Amino acid sequence: MARIKRKKNRYISDQTILEESIRTLRTNLSFSSVDKENKVFLVTSSKPEEGKSTISVGLARSIALNGEKVLLIDCDFRNPSISKISKNYHKEGLVDYLVNGVELRNVKIKDDMVSNLELILAGIKPPNPSEILGSKKFKTFIDGIKKHYSYVIIDTPPVGVLTDAAIVSTMVDGVVMVVSQNKTTDSELDLAMKNLKNVGANIVGFVFNKVDIKNIESYGYGKE
Ligand SMILES: Nc1ncnc2c1ncn2[C@@H]1O[C@H](COP(=O)(O)OP(=O)(O)OP(=O)(O)O)[C@@H](O)[C@H]1O
Ligand SMILES: [Mg+2]
Repeated sequence: MARIKRKKNRYISDQTILEESIRTLRTNLSFSSVDKENKVFLVTSSKPEEGKSTISVGLARSIALNGEKVLLIDCDFRNPSISKISKNYHKEGLVDYLVNGVELRNVKIKDDMVSNLELILAGIKPPNPSEILGSKKFKTFIDGIKKHYSYVIIDTPPVGVLTDAAIVSTMVDGVVMVVSQNKTTDSELDLAMKNLKNVGANIVGFVFNKVDIKNIESYGYGKE
């Protein structure tokens, strides 16, 4: 992992930067939808590989460690990765519940790391992800399950490429946009924002991920 030196020979790592961004995001989200007891947030970005799933897992754990009851749902049915990133393994997931009649209690699992966090993985790969996410059953599922948690965090595919996240954004309290520094162009971000605004999504925060630590050094951290 990359590290840079800062005052008194201490180091700041990109892991530290990620943790700090997630703590800031957690605080900002706690001020969003203040009157709601059950807050639902979706995490997306313009394009693949910007860190949506990594941020989703980190954010869900961070909120749960703060004492809140949290549910993390993998709604990226095309490229699910919450299982691998969080190191929680279970055969059946949300698609099995929504499409194959598996009971909800059989798709919910407890996080291996943080006790206040539960997860629903994606499950079996369907041929029609957008149709499932736009279904009445999915909307009813979100409306019902959120009553049992203070926070629900939903990981989704990139909104500049696929319609899935835009569909789900209409059912949540807010959308968190992950922006990868040096990777996301202005036009890609514009398209993603347009897709979200077209459906009336409430964008509540941006996370700048994969930040070039050399830039942080130039802001003073690295000076002896
Ligand atoms: N802050 C970070 N520092 C270093 N590596 C990171 C960081 N965030 C994410 N990554 C790495 O980038 C890759 C993509 O991350 P992740 O799967 O979270 O992105 P994603 O946006 O969910 O991708 P996809 O669009 O495929 O779902 C992974 O290998 C992950 O470990
Ligand atoms: Mg992902």
